[in-house]
Amino acid sequence: MIATPYYCIDKRRLLVNLERIDEVRQASGAKVLLALKCFATWSVFDLMREHMDGTTSSSLYEVRLGRETFGGETHAYSVAYADHEMDEVISHADKIIFNSLGQFGRFADRAHGKPIGLRLNPGASASGFDLADPTRPFSRLGESDPAKVAAVIDRIDGFMIHNNCENHDFARFDELLTGIEARFGALLGQVNWVSLGGGIHFTGEDYPRQAFAARLRAFAERHGVQVYLEPGEAAITNSASLEVTVLDTLHNGKDLAVVDSSIEAHMLDLLIYRLSARVEPNTGPHRYLVYGKSAWQATSSASSTFRNL
Ligand SMILES: Cc1ncc(COP(=O)(O)O)c(C=O)c1O
Repeated sequence: MIATPYYCIDKRRLLVNLERIDEVRQASGAKVLLALKCFATWSVFDLMREHMDGTTSSSLYEVRLGRETFGGETHAYSVAYADHEMDEVISHADKIIFNSLGQFGRFADRAHGKPIGLRLNPGASASGFDLADPTRPFSRLGESDPAKVAAVIDRIDGFMIHNNCENHDFARFDELLTGIEARFGALLGQVNWVSLGGGIHFTGEDYPRQAFAARLRAFAERHGVQVYLEPGEAAITNSASLEVTVLDTLHNGKDLAVVDSSIEAHMLDLLIYRLSARVEPNTGPHRYLVYGKSAWQATSSASSTFRNL
């Protein structure tokens, strides 16, 4: 028995996602980069790199991790780089993507000839979370004015646009991409590549992958660009679990169980986005409110037999 708590990554389930990624790569011609901000467990990178083209990052240490442990094509992006990070970032990157024209103006000369990208903010998104929504008022996520971008287009090699979030709906993706073409169409034809970011749940069982791939191929051909996708969650969804043991049970108006993990340490995104954990198999006859060990609220309510007591 492995001592809990631990994350269990099921490689067979991971492979289901990776094979669906392959299907899209082959049918669309798009390159697919793992977004390390979502998943950076390098013990399974051997398997993942057979089905993905490289990584993208959101900080200096992520781009270094991508270069050293994953390989393939390594994209560097960050909402903002500090002056002292620049040379090291460039040393690990195949392409550098700036979030703003301000960062571009400050650091482009230090790219040593590496291709430079710029993040665009298309003013529309499929994000249900304010925190990650580029269309929220006063968003810092990318440049939105095509005229300002046009002024430096001769020095820009590609664009990155990330405006999907947990988007399972192909029609909505298609609509958003059409909006991007309407707003930035004149610029798209002047660059070599466009990354459409993450948040597109194209590895879902019922996702219309062939239609998705055809849309990406048509986009690439229309604008003469190499398309990139940056899945994080879509690459690893449904393939891992956090395994815990119940340490104590109490009754205080309800049956309560305390497990040997904490939401802050092991499932921080649930805290940030105010979500509940999914408990599996959740089939037993008893209802418990499941708490972590720290002061924070319950992780979820579960129906369980709790054999580990
Ligand atoms: C620029 C960028 N690319 C890719 C991703 C990965 O998104 P997801 O894990 O939702 O696929 C993110 C997540 O925030 C991101 O900000």
